[in-house]
Amino acid sequence: MATSTPTKWWSKDTVAVITGANQGIGYEIARQLAQNGLTVVATARSEERGKAAVEALRKELGTEDQELVAFHLLDVTSDESVAALAQWLRQTFGGVDILVNNAAISRAETEEKIFDTNYYGVKRVTKAILPLLRPSPAGARVINVTSDLGVLKRLSNKYRDEWKDRDQITEDQIDHFIQQYLGELKDGTWKSGGWQDMIRDYSNTKVALNAYTSVLAREVRPETEKVYVNCFNPGFTKTNLNDYQGLSTLQANTLQEAAMTGIWLALHPVGGPHGKYLEQKNWGIAEW
Ligand SMILES: NC(=O)c1ccc[n+]([C@@H]2O[C@H](COP(=O)([O-])OP(=O)(O)OC[C@H]3O[C@@H](n4cnc5c(N)ncnc54)[C@H](OP(=O)(O)O)[C@@H]3O)[C@@H](O)[C@H]2O)c1
Repeated sequence: MATSTPTKWWSKDTVAVITGANQGIGYEIARQLAQNGLTVVATARSEERGKAAVEALRKELGTEDQELVAFHLLDVTSDESVAALAQWLRQTFGGVDILVNNAAISRAETEEKIFDTNYYGVKRVTKAILPLLRPSPAGARVINVTSDLGVLKRLSNKYRDEWKDRDQITEDQIDHFIQQYLGELKDGTWKSGGWQDMIRDYSNTKVALNAYTSVLAREVRPETEKVYVNCFNPGFTKTNLNDYQGLSTLQANTLQEAAMTGIWLALHPVGGPHGKYLEQKNWGIAEW
């Protein structure tokens, strides 16, 4: 895969929406896309944090343009919030070219909340924005920010084999995967269930997200709907998600490095990957 600067197909009329853009990797993706001259809609679940982030972005880019770097409230766990964003996007821009599903959490009061954010949140936002994706010659893009903690080889239950054939995965199966995992957590049998147990709940949400990326990539295609769907792993990066902490053995990425593959997926010329999982930094399609 080419790693050189992509042929520029976008302009300020190209609209990119990023979830969870008020800090961390989402903020960095918003920053780099805005720097490349796209119109960026940075969304956040907190009006205060979101507006402050967008102010900082505008200041850094030296623009006062409210539309070039726009803010909109978005809580990915709320149907109403997602619907309000979709309606505003339709009215304000008429459509969307790039959706980056970045928002995620690693801990919450319940396991359900983590799935509701990291998996159902992505589905909620994607389903609302899909009808707004513009069939441009370069193709619209859906980019899911995932983690290598969600690759199948980390499981040792039936999903490890069954989901290897990614064309067979369905949304019902993913729901079943989640229900089975949550059920085993509740009845205390999860330890022998073959689940990913490192950062347990978070990692299993990313298994589900990867599976959904495959499902979505069958539903919409570059050839017909003119949409590319992929996910990528930004790699370990010290952010709020991990309390800015890491293992001493693990080399942390800078935010720029973490965002790199996402930016490449957003801006690659016509004919890039579709329905794939890409690893950080090397634009490499990896096994998931
Ligand atoms: N950091 C890593 O090492 C690493 C590694 C692999 C993958 N990733 C992935 O990278 C992505 C970004 O994570 P990060 O490390 O940049 O973490 P982060 O700094 O904690 O950023 C996460 C963002 O998601 C937002 N968010 C959480 N719940 C939300 C909700 N219900 N609705 C809308 N936004 C919500 C957060 O908002 P608040 O500020 O309001 O909390 C924040 O803006 C995630 O998908 C994560 O899984 C990270």
